[in-house]
Amino acid sequence: MKQIDVNAGKPYPVKIGRGLLPCCGAELKGIGLSGKVMIVTDDNVAPLYLATAEASLKNSGFTVFSFTLPHGENAKNFDNLVKLLNFTAESGLTRSDTFVALGGGVVGDLCGFAAAVYMRGVHFVQCPTTLLAAVDSSVGGKTAVDLAAGKNLAGAFYQPDLVLCDLDTFATLPREEYANGMAEVIKYGFIRDAQLLAVLEQAFDEEAVVACCVQIKADVVANDEFDRGERMLLNFGHTVGHAIEAVSGYTIPHGQAVALGMAAVTRACVKNGLCPPETLSILLRLLARYDLPNETGRAVNELFGWMGKDKKASGDSITFVLPRETGRCELRKMTRAEWTALLS
Ligand code: NAD
Ligand code: GLY
Repeated sequence: MKQIDVNAGKPYPVKIGRGLLPCCGAELKGIGLSGKVMIVTDDNVAPLYLATAEASLKNSGFTVFSFTLPHGENAKNFDNLVKLLNFTAESGLTRSDTFVALGGGVVGDLCGFAAAVYMRGVHFVQCPTTLLAAVDSSVGGKTAVDLAAGKNLAGAFYQPDLVLCDLDTFATLPREEYANGMAEVIKYGFIRDAQLLAVLEQAFDEEAVVACCVQIKADVVANDEFDRGERMLLNFGHTVGHAIEAVSGYTIPHGQAVALGMAAVTRACVKNGLCPPETLSILLRLLARYDLPNETGRAVNELFGWMGKDKKASGDSITFVLPRETGRCELRKMTRAEWTALLS
């Protein structure tokens, strides 16, 4: 088991290992939690892991309730948030009680937002069950739901009290979902750690790789919890990626869209002499190795309208994450004229 400490405004541990979910009750108790717990999960994860989590929490003396969302991005909306909040109030949870997110990033983002706003903030524990949630969404405190106008447009920064990542839950992940998580793992290598990219060229130790990504995220969040500077590096590939997701009507999943976005931006940087061709070769090799796409099949200028609406847009400008070499990216604030010229 590995533990990474996140030194955000509210510090908390991220525990990564095997066999952690059957011990989640003791883990919550160990950080001083007690009383009622609302487990939020989805209808794929519930049949696999809800009973294990419930049993462990009950054995540790918690009173347990559960709320199951339909799976998928379309469930990450205000209607479901309000249903969850009403059910939580009917179940009698108070300010000293706890929300537990058991699932992927959709469950974690919505449950975290509920924890942030229910009675102006209650305890919150993340139990990620996808690779993507383990390396990215469960850490760092970004919570949100989607609006008709775009993804994650309503949310809050709200750090968890604990992240419990049981790698055993990845055994049931569909291959495509594992690949989606690998897109974020590859992203960490490109923004911060060329050595991680070398590790990914071979069979790797899952616990070590997840811990490496979480450590990078913890370091970035400790320096810039509220996304005003360095944290924007975590958005490598995301501005183009979010536009790809939106244009596809969210049929292209987040991880695949990020892969396509990283490839599009890196190609543009090579074409404009901003990074060496080897950086693109390494990216394309890793995307292929982990079953990720690199060609959108549509002209990049079809995405420009959506990119202008991105959360990272500020007036006419967007701060882009530009790869300069493997393991090093640069933030560059660009006007619409500049970024359309770069990407065309
Ligand atoms: P997801 O939550 O939709 O999970 C993917 C699929 O895997 C779902 O169908 C789910 O039911 C299923 N699943 C989950 N765990 C499983 C398991 N162990 N076995 C079998 N099936 C399982 O998607 P995701 O890729 O985990 O997360 C994507 C979401 O995360 C997006 O909404 C994205 O915006 C958000 N996100 C947030 C942050 C953040 O910092 N908050 C960062 C990155 C992504
Ligand atoms: N996933 C981007 C961030 O947490 O900032």
